[in-house]
Amino acid sequence: MRELVVDLGARSYPIRIGPGLLTTVGEHLRERGVGPERTLFVVTDEHVGPLHLERVRRALEGAGYRVAHVTVPAGERAKSLAVYARVIEAMIRAELDRKSVVLALGGGVVGDLAGFAAATFMRGVDYVQLPTTILAHDSSVGGKTGINHPLGKNLIGAFHQPLLVLYDTDTLKTLPPREVRSGLAEVVKHAAIGERAFFDWLLAQVDAVAAGDADALGEALYRGCRVKAQVVARDERETSLRAILNFGHTVGHALEALDGYAGLTHGEAVAIGMVAAAALSERLGVAVEPVAEPIRALLERFGLPTQVPARFDPARVLEAMRRDKKRQDGKLVMVLLAAIGQPVVVRDVPEAAVRAVLEDCRQQGD
Ligand SMILES: NC(=O)c1ccc[n+]([C@@H]2O[C@H](COP(=O)([O-])OP(=O)(O)OC[C@H]3O[C@@H](n4cnc5c(N)ncnc54)[C@H](O)[C@@H]3O)[C@@H](O)[C@H]2O)c1
Ligand SMILES: [Zn+2]
Repeated sequence: MRELVVDLGARSYPIRIGPGLLTTVGEHLRERGVGPERTLFVVTDEHVGPLHLERVRRALEGAGYRVAHVTVPAGERAKSLAVYARVIEAMIRAELDRKSVVLALGGGVVGDLAGFAAATFMRGVDYVQLPTTILAHDSSVGGKTGINHPLGKNLIGAFHQPLLVLYDTDTLKTLPPREVRSGLAEVVKHAAIGERAFFDWLLAQVDAVAAGDADALGEALYRGCRVKAQVVARDERETSLRAILNFGHTVGHALEALDGYAGLTHGEAVAIGMVAAAALSERLGVAVEPVAEPIRALLERFGLPTQVPARFDPARVLEAMRRDKKRQDGKLVMVLLAAIGQPVVVRDVPEAAVRAVLEDCRQQGD
């Protein structure tokens, strides 16, 4: 088992990563101060539930806890006001109280939804993240919770830190290959903004990580979580530094939005966005070394896309970027790279340069 701590004073919590951890989830809860008199409420989705809920329930009941649960639809559509209302209703019917603890068993969708339900039920109850996707090494750490509004993604939410992140890497064995690749894009992101040693290590271990080798994947997730945890510890509420976590996301979000969140996965969109941001870093002279080619090469070895699909018109991508809620004072804010491991937030990116890069990165064809 690998362990690290998100250092937030009284709200600090451990992230534990390793195979088989769900079978001892009760002991981890006990050690975090959750006694068996507190009712547990598992939120999971219709894919993850049938695969992993029974194991969690057995482990918890074996440790003397009372456990209730709710199963929500799989995928982004579960981050809606309607599903949120259903979760809260299930919590009320399960007779939860202020001492109850919510367990989010699933990927980033379940984590965001269950975390938000925990943040708001009776003005806030404790919760635990039990991530089951690679992407969730990112989303389960940092305490950002929330749901979508028909007018935009993640527009309703709260900061609410979990008590514990317990990451059983055995659950990743049932993850579809496209979701594996998608999650690895965020690992590449953490390597690109974290430190060169992580990036070089990932490049050396790419085959083992992509093949799901337990030790290599565990180490990749540990190093990815460590980058995120360090950033969050220094800027919990995204007033400044935390913005570097958006590397690749400005273009990525625009592509996802133009696809109506039904084409590229989040990770695929971010992969393309990272190559574009790296190319832009070079074009604007922000980069003091080549950054686009190393990132492109790494993403390609993970089987991720690195070019803007031909169906996206650069002018429309730029328009979608302008609508992004992270814009400040009408200026285009982007995370660029001075070097691998050295992100810089640039607050007034010239649109003409973005457009030129989007053209350059665009796939040929119709
Ligand atoms: N809070 C944050 O800081 C943060 C950061 C990044 C992303 N996010 C959010 O995370 C969400 C994306 O997360 P995701 O990619 O994990 O998506 P997801 O939770 O929808 O999971 C992807 C798919 O895999 C299935 N699945 C999950 N675990 C599985 C397993 N072990 N075996 C088989 N199938 C499994 C799910 O049912 C779903 O169909 C987005 O809503 C995004 O906004 C949040
Ligand atoms: Zn992301």
